[in-house]
Amino acid sequence: MTLRVGIAGLGTVGAGLLRLLAQNADLLAARAGTPLLVTAISARDRHRDRGMSLAGLRWHDDPTNLASDPDIDVIVELIGGAEGPARALVHAALSAGRPVVTANKALIAVHGGELAALAARTGASLAFEAAVAGGIPVIKALREGLAGNRISRVAGILNGTCNYILTAMTEQARDFAETLAEAQTLGYAEADPSTDIDGIDTAHKLAILAALAFGRPVSFDAVHVEGIRAVSAQDIAYAAELGYRIKLLGIARRIEAGIEARVHPCLLKRTNPIARVDGVFNAVVAEGDFVGRVMLEGRGAGAGPTASAVAADLIDLARGRTTPAWGVAEADLLHRPDVPMAAHTGPYYLRLSVVDRPGVIADVAAVLRDHGISLESMLQRGRSEGEAVPIVLVTHTTTEAAMQAALAQIARLGAVLEPPALIRIEPE
Ligand SMILES: NC(=O)c1ccc[n+]([C@@H]2O[C@H](COP(=O)([O-])OP(=O)(O)OC[C@H]3O[C@@H](n4cnc5c(N)ncnc54)[C@H](OP(=O)(O)O)[C@@H]3O)[C@@H](O)[C@H]2O)c1
Repeated sequence: MTLRVGIAGLGTVGAGLLRLLAQNADLLAARAGTPLLVTAISARDRHRDRGMSLAGLRWHDDPTNLASDPDIDVIVELIGGAEGPARALVHAALSAGRPVVTANKALIAVHGGELAALAARTGASLAFEAAVAGGIPVIKALREGLAGNRISRVAGILNGTCNYILTAMTEQARDFAETLAEAQTLGYAEADPSTDIDGIDTAHKLAILAALAFGRPVSFDAVHVEGIRAVSAQDIAYAAELGYRIKLLGIARRIEAGIEARVHPCLLKRTNPIARVDGVFNAVVAEGDFVGRVMLEGRGAGAGPTASAVAADLIDLARGRTTPAWGVAEADLLHRPDVPMAAHTGPYYLRLSVVDRPGVIADVAAVLRDHGISLESMLQRGRSEGEAVPIVLVTHTTTEAAMQAALAQIARLGAVLEPPALIRIEPE
C-alpha cells in the first residue's frame, strides 16, 4: 500500500513539499508505515520551472479535478486564499469523503467551521498543521499534547514579516516606512504587504488557535485587529527606556465573560521570553491549568518549515491517526460569548505631542482622572517653552472603553498637537 498524494499549488510551499517528499522519502515511508507518493499536481502555469522534474505526475489544469482523481488518496491544498479555487477544491474533496491537508490559514479561519462540519459528515479528515506558525507544531501541541489541560490563554508572535520589521526598527532605530521598503527589497515582505502588516494574517492564525484552545467554533470576525503601521521609532525608543519591547501579538483569553481575541502591537517587559523572539521567528505561548506555561518558538514561514508541517499531517493520515479538526466533535464545541474590545482591561502606554506651556500636563491628568484612570509613570523630555514636546504616560490597569473615551477628549485639548499614540501593555 502507498499513500498517493495530489498537490494543488506548486509555489513556495508546494515546491518545498515536493523537495521534502523526495529528499526524505525513506524516512517518511518508515514513519508513515507506507511510502508517500505524489501522483498528481495542479498549478496555473504548466511550463514553469519548479526546480525539479515533474515527469510521470498527472497534471490537472483545474485543481478541483484532483478531488475526483481516482489515483489519489489525499489532497494537499497549497494554493491559498479564503475563496476561489482553494475553497472549491477543499469543499469538493471533503464532499467526496477524501482527506485534505492544507496550509491555508485564511480558508480555515474564515470557512473552517463549515469545512470541519462537512468533513465530520463525510468521514474525511481535514488537517491544517501548516496553517499556523509554519514549522512550529502548535496545532498538534494544543489539540493533542496539551489536551489534558483547560487552556486559559494562548498568545503569540504569529507573523514573521511584522516581527522582522519591528525587530529591524528596534535594532536600527529606523521608521516603519523605511524598514518596510527594505523588508520588501529583501523578500521578507510582499509587494502588497497589507495582509501581514495590518494584522489580518495574525488574526487568521489567532482565530484558529482560539478555536483549538477553547474548543469553540472558529470565528475570524470575533478577532479585534490592529496592525503595525502606526508604530513609530519614537515609541520603540520610549518603550525601551521604560524596559519594554514592542511586538505584534495575537492574544486569546478565556475570562469570566467569555473569550477575548485580539491582535495589536503590545508593550512587553524586556524580560518576557516572547519579547526576545526576534526577526522572522514566531513563538506561541499557551497556559494550561495543569501544565502551566508552555512556549514554542521557531520558523513561522518559508518553504522548508511549512513543508515540514504538511509532511507531519500526511504521516498522521497514513498511520490512521485522526482527530476531529477542532479536537472535539461538532456537538461538543462550546458556544461562549465573544468579549468585545471595549471590555478589555489592562495598562496602557500613551504618547502625546503637546505645546510646552504651564498647565498642559495638569489638563491631561484631569481628563484621565475624570475617566477613573490612574498613572503609574510619566516621561517628559526636552523642555522648550512654546514648542512641541513629547510626553509619555503609563497607566495602571483600566478599561479600553475608559481609555478610548479619555483619549478622544485629550485629542481635543488645544495644546495636544498630533493624534496621541496608544499602545496596550501586556502583563507578564
Ligand atoms: N509561503 C509561506 O511561507 C507559507 C507559510 C505558511 C502557510 N502558507 C500558506 O500556504 C499556501 C501557499 O502559499 P505559497 O506561499 O506557497 O503561495 P505561492 O507561492 O503564491 O503559490 C501558490 C500556488 O498556487 C497556484 N495557483 C494559484 N491559483 C491557482 C489556480 N487557479 N489553479 C491552480 N493553481 C493555482 C500557483 O500556480 P503558479 O505557480 O503556476 O502560478 C502557485 O503554484 C497559502 O495558503 C499560504 O497562506 C504559506
